[in-house]
Parts: sequence; structure tokens; C-alpha cells
Amino acid sequence: MKHDAVEKNIGLMIVLIIVALSFGTLVELLPLMFSKQTNEPIAGLKPLPALELEGRDIYIREGCNTCHSQMIRPLRAETERYGHYTVAGELVYNHPFLWGSKRTGPDLARVGKRYTDAWHRAHLLNPRDVVPESNMPGFPWLFDNEVNSAKTGKKMAALRMVGVPYTDEDIAGAAAAVEGKKEIDALVAYLQQLGTLLQARR
Ligand code: HEC
Repeated sequence: MKHDAVEKNIGLMIVLIIVALSFGTLVELLPLMFSKQTNEPIAGLKPLPALELEGRDIYIREGCNTCHSQMIRPLRAETERYGHYTVAGELVYNHPFLWGSKRTGPDLARVGKRYTDAWHRAHLLNPRDVVPESNMPGFPWLFDNEVNSAKTGKKMAALRMVGVPYTDEDIAGAAAAVEGKKEIDALVAYLQQLGTLLQARR
């Protein structure tokens, strides 16, 4: 029997398993790559301005994404707590995505405008000053370091190559926009716009 031949020949079985799995992968992934729902920015979506873009890089450098997800799932418990679930169209300019799955701290997908800038600054300096039971680390050096403006324009140009619609003016003005700013300013600016385009968290 043919089936016997497959079951007794592990080499052939491996090849056939790979074929079956890659077919399944293609069927799931290919339509998403061409679907409007996943590729089209939602109304009003703009690429991050220079300062927010640097803030995002600081967020990645400091590993905030290892404790915080940015992905609200369409489940009642999540939308009640965090607000509207995350939609693909909000994230089309995100490279790389910061969805995450580890939630040592709360999801931050819609944290923008939930607190004041002063709250964020106090919290990032020493979380226990504002949330006594917090086990989040402090990030005091962000208050001393200046944003490195040398590469801001280049980062925008690189993002433009993968489809983020930065203009020539954005790129030309990037260094000046972050010049002399502290890293904490950039990070807080980044946090304050997170998820604000759809319904803000209550
Ligand atoms: C070791 C894990 C850990 C890391 C790393 C971490 N956090 Fe947190 N974060 C937490 C925990 C736990 C809380 C909940 C307690 C609190 O509010 O401090 C929290 C809370 C927050 C909140 C308040 C969220 C809300 O809805 O109340 C913000 C904003 C935040 N973190 C931002 C950051 C940023 C920005 C970074 C990186 C600079 C960062 N966190 C790094 C664990 C972490």
C-alpha cells in the first residue's frame, strides 16, 4: 500500500510533512499580505514625528517591551480594562511590531493620554513614588542622557524604504526636532500618543 511506504520511509515522511505544513502556512499568510483590512492605515494615522520615533527606540533599548505588551485582544476582560482592541490598521507603520505576549506590567497599547506627562516622569524616575506596590525598575539615566540626533533622519529614510510615508521635509528637519531634548522627553512623547487614534482607555 502507498500509505505503508510513507509510514516506513521517514525521509519521505519528513518531506511530505514539510509540504503539508508550508501549504497551510501559505493559505493562512498570503491572503493577509494582500488584504486591505491588514494593510491599510486607519483614518488619521501618521508616521511618528522625530521625537516620538526616538522615544520608541529608547523604549526598545530599555526593554520596556519585555514586560509590557502592546496588543489588546478582542476579549471582554481586555477591552473593559484597556479600551478598544488593537486593530492591524493602527500598526501598519510599526517596524518592528511591539505586540509582545509577556505582561509583567499592564498592556500599553492605549496608555496615551491616560496619565499626565508629570506622572510618567515621576513613574519612570522611580515607579514606587506613584505606585507603591510596583516592581517596575526606575530609569533615572533617561533624565540625563540627551537624544542622539545624529541618526534620526537616517532612521526615517530607512523606514520610508519599507513604506512609512515620511516626507523629505520630515527627514531634513529630524535632527533639529530632537536636538537638545532629553531621552525622557522622547520616551514620554512616545507613550502619550500610544493608541490615542482609536478610543482612549477610560
Ligand atoms: C521588569 C518589568 C518592567 C519593565 C522592564 C518595565 N515595566 Fe513598566 N510596569 C511594570 C509593572 C509591574 C507595572 C505596574 C505597576 C506600576 O504601575 O508601576 C508597570 C507599569 C507601567 C506603566 C503604567 C501603566 C498603566 O496603565 O498604569 C507605564 C506607562 C509603564 N510601566 C511604562 C514602562 C516603560 C516606558 C518602560 C521602559 C522604560 C517600562 N515600563 C519597563 C513592569 C515593567
